[in-house]
Amino acid sequence: MDLMAAQSKINDLRNLLNQYGYDYYVLDKPSVPDAEYDRLLRELIELEEQFPELKSSDSPTQRIGGVILEMFEKVEHRTPMLSLGNAFNEQDLRDFDRRIRQIAGDDFSYVCELKIDGLAVSLRYEDGMFVQGATRGDGTIGEDITSNLRTIKSIPLRLKENVTLEVRGEAFMPKRSFEALNKAKEERGEELFANPRNAAAGSLRQLDSKIAASRNLDVFLYGIGNTGNTGIESHSEGLDFLDKVGFKTNQERRKCATIDEVIEYVNGWVEKRPNLPYDIDGIVIKVDSLQQQSELGTTAKSPRWAIAYKFPAEEVVTTLLDIELSVGRTGVVTPTAILVPVKVAGTTVQRASLHNEDLIREKDIKIGDQVVVKKAGDIIPEVVNVLAEQRTGKEKDFHMPTHCPECESDLVRLEGEVALRCINPKCPAQIREGLIHFVSRNAMNIDGLGEKVISQLFAEKLIEDVADIYKLTQEQLLALERMGVKSVSNLLQAIEASKANSLEKLLFGLGIRHVGAKAAKTLAQHFGSMDRLADASKDELLSINEIGDKMAESVEAFFEKEEAQELLQELKDAGVNMDYKGAKPVSAEESDSIFAGKTVVLTGKLEQLSRNEAKEKIEALGGNVAGSVSKKTDLVIAGEDAGSKLAKAQELSIEVWDEEKLLEELNK
Ligand code: IVH
Repeated sequence: MDLMAAQSKINDLRNLLNQYGYDYYVLDKPSVPDAEYDRLLRELIELEEQFPELKSSDSPTQRIGGVILEMFEKVEHRTPMLSLGNAFNEQDLRDFDRRIRQIAGDDFSYVCELKIDGLAVSLRYEDGMFVQGATRGDGTIGEDITSNLRTIKSIPLRLKENVTLEVRGEAFMPKRSFEALNKAKEERGEELFANPRNAAAGSLRQLDSKIAASRNLDVFLYGIGNTGNTGIESHSEGLDFLDKVGFKTNQERRKCATIDEVIEYVNGWVEKRPNLPYDIDGIVIKVDSLQQQSELGTTAKSPRWAIAYKFPAEEVVTTLLDIELSVGRTGVVTPTAILVPVKVAGTTVQRASLHNEDLIREKDIKIGDQVVVKKAGDIIPEVVNVLAEQRTGKEKDFHMPTHCPECESDLVRLEGEVALRCINPKCPAQIREGLIHFVSRNAMNIDGLGEKVISQLFAEKLIEDVADIYKLTQEQLLALERMGVKSVSNLLQAIEASKANSLEKLLFGLGIRHVGAKAAKTLAQHFGSMDRLADASKDELLSINEIGDKMAESVEAFFEKEEAQELLQELKDAGVNMDYKGAKPVSAEESDSIFAGKTVVLTGKLEQLSRNEAKEKIEALGGNVAGSVSKKTDLVIAGEDAGSKLAKAQELSIEVWDEEKLLEELNK
């Protein structure tokens, strides 16, 4: 066969296999027997081996896996991957509905979808080709798991239209595949996965993509990162568009006109849930119109236009064996219930936080009690109540200690707090927990430095403060338990990479009292650098909207401490970045730009800027970029092929600029 003939045969085979694969994996409607599919696939593999120059990344043969990575690269999401607020009962749903009505009025509808219990993924397509897939990570930065996602057969490698877009969805393992996998693991004497979600996450976190390929994962797409110039005006149109270009979406979605209809849908699924072939942990309710979505906007973490209804948690009874104490990063001493292990909502639970002494009194918990346990939000184990009628008389009262279980200092109860605290700043438990916090995901995000490694390093006195992390050597790490050359080299790379983090991550990692991840971001954006923040007066701090008294005092006190100054100097010397790297939003009052306080809509294709770049630039000048045109829009930027938004702007007599005019104004 010559090259031309081979190319033509290969094209035919790819088209056929793609069609059959789509019928089977996306539509769930097989159109040929499995044996026929396998025969065609083998033929294609052979031809591609014979003519390696004809290999192509979108060929169905590329799903078999085989890529072996050293580590996952980090990927910055072009649009952040937000999470959802929760509703646990009918009242929460009605409250959500009321909040929506206050802003959007009465004329809107909802879309209800199943909340798939898997792992959020983001897929990027360029000109119709699948180019990159990532995990959610911390919402801003995830991990590149493209080679594993390629093995999921319901993820199209090439779309039916040559569009460029980013889509979001949930990768999961169907119940039957999970059971088969655990059965095989059991036979091999291996540790089992606790539930399908862990199995899916574990499979996608494998560096060898052959493993993911063998795991029979699946996906449902539920959103578009940026609808761009597609002309899509509602979430449901977006999902239909995803169907049209070849994605797999969940077909159980329903449009609901009222919250009563939503509640009916939710209750229906409480009943039908066990019969589904995959796990769901709730229902997601979204406002359909994209224009209304953009009017409702988002908080730092989640959109105001959507909510996740979580199914009631499973409750089980077990024995409370003992109450242990642990000292946290801020010195709070927390009692933890030690339980006879029980299975709850898919995993085995043997510890549950009891929070503080007041709560133990309130729930009348005694050591030896039979207790009801559930997982709050299906994740965090919690003692719900005690079965007092089952007491034998042998149960023992629990009393909080007067001294720190770790360093023996006096414990104090600060005014207005329920917690008991160890206020010894040298308490080893606090230091260790502070180190664990520093490397955690929302802080410096150093992979490979988990609780266990930190605890070892700390016990061996190899790290005493966070700056010591940057002094660790290969030799020191190799001496630790269960650390091979490969993991040490990955860890050192991760430590090195963390030096480049934007200021807010470091700031949050330092663990300044009252400064959470969101406040850290606000401070980093406002001041731009650690030095400027360190020099800020309390009044300057208070002038920022979101910063209150307590936080301002705590920030000021932190930077006044000599140890803090020394620590920051050490971090600086180690090469840790001290500047804010994200976009700096300017308030309308601060900006004298033409964009200040204006609501701008971008539509059509821009030539010189990506839509995201344009958005960042406009926001940096105090403008506000919205997704759709309404009476509130001040300005529309129309690129090539602008569609319905441009028409609407004209209809509403809104000012319209072309890209040239935009660039001219941005450069002023
Ligand atoms: S929408 C900005 N829809 O639930 C809103 N999420 O906290 C983005 N999930 O891990 C989420 N099924 O991956 C949405 N039909 C669905 C979903 C869904 C599952 C997951 C999502 C995220 C979590 C939301």
